[in-house]
Amino acid sequence: MNSKRKVVLVGAGFVGMSMAYSLLNQGGVEELVLIDVNKDKTIGEEMDLSDGLPYSPHKMSIKAGDYADCKDANIVVITAGLAQKPGQSRLELAVANAKIMKSITESVMESGFKGIFIIASNPVDLMSYVVAEVSGMPKSRVIGSGTVLDTARLRYLIAEYLEVSSKNVHAYILGEHGDSSLVPWEHCYVGCKKMIDIMKDNNHPMEDLKKIHDGVWQAAYKIIEKKKATYYGIGMALNRLVKAVLNDENAILTVSTYQNGEYGQEGMYIGVPAIINKNGVKEILELKLNEEDQAKFNHSCEIMKQNIENEIKPIIE
Ligand code: 2OP
Repeated sequence: MNSKRKVVLVGAGFVGMSMAYSLLNQGGVEELVLIDVNKDKTIGEEMDLSDGLPYSPHKMSIKAGDYADCKDANIVVITAGLAQKPGQSRLELAVANAKIMKSITESVMESGFKGIFIIASNPVDLMSYVVAEVSGMPKSRVIGSGTVLDTARLRYLIAEYLEVSSKNVHAYILGEHGDSSLVPWEHCYVGCKKMIDIMKDNNHPMEDLKKIHDGVWQAAYKIIEKKKATYYGIGMALNRLVKAVLNDENAILTVSTYQNGEYGQEGMYIGVPAIINKNGVKEILELKLNEEDQAKFNHSCEIMKQNIENEIKPIIE
C-alpha cells in the first residue's frame, strides 16, 4: 500500500465533490484521485479544487485519474450512481445502482486494490452488500456510510431541542439508511445523563422524541424537494469516515456493516454502531435493544433481505 494517505473517489457528482471539498478544507489526505464516467468533469474538478490549495491547511495532490490509481489507494470511496428524485425512495434506485456498483467494483479490483471501500451510493445498505460480494473482500473492509448521516441529523436535532452542544449528544440511528430506521432512545445520552431522564426531569412531552426521529428520516425528502439533492451533510459524514480509517481512530460510528449474527441478524448490511479503524470495521457494538426496538430493527433487516433476494442477487450472481 501507498505510504501516502491516498483516497480515490469514484463519482465526481455533488456528494463526492462535497466530500472532496471538505477533505481539502480539513486536510489529512495527501493524494486525492477523482474518477467519473464524465472524464472532463473530473479534470474541471481537479483544476477548481487545486485553485483552493494555497488556502488549505495541508498539502494535497488532487488529480483526475482512472481505475489503475486504485492499486495503491488506502481507501476507495464510491458515490457514483443515480440519486433520488423528489418523492422517490432510496430503495427505488436499487436495481439501476446495483448494476453500476458491480461494474465499478470489478474495475477497482482489476487494479489490485487492497484497501478499504467506503460506499455512499444509495440505497447504501444494499450497495455495500453488492460491493462486498462482487469484490470478494473481507466484509470488514467494505463499509457503507449507513446511518452516519442520519446520526448526525439526530444529534443536531436533539442539540437544537435541548439547547446543548451536538458534541455532547451521544445518540445513534440504527437500521436502514432510509425510511425504516430507528432510534434506541434508552441508549441515548446527553453528556452522561440519559435522554429519557432529561425529558422526564424537564417535563418535555415524550411524543417529542417521535417528532425528532421524524425530522431525521424526513430530512432527505424535504431537502430534495427544496434543492433537488443532499450533499453537504453526506460530504461531511464521508470525510468523518475517511479520517476514522486513515487515522486508525477506533472511532464509534453507525456504519452499514455486515451482520453475522449480531443483533440476531445475518446475511445483510445494515446500520449499527461499530468501531472503525485502519482495517475497516473492527467490531460491532451490540446494544441490548428492548422488544419494540428489536422488532423495528428486525423489520429494517427484513426489508434488506427481501431486496437482496429479489433485486440484488439476480444482478450479482
Ligand atoms: C440523504 O439522506 C439522500 O441518502 C441521502 O441525504
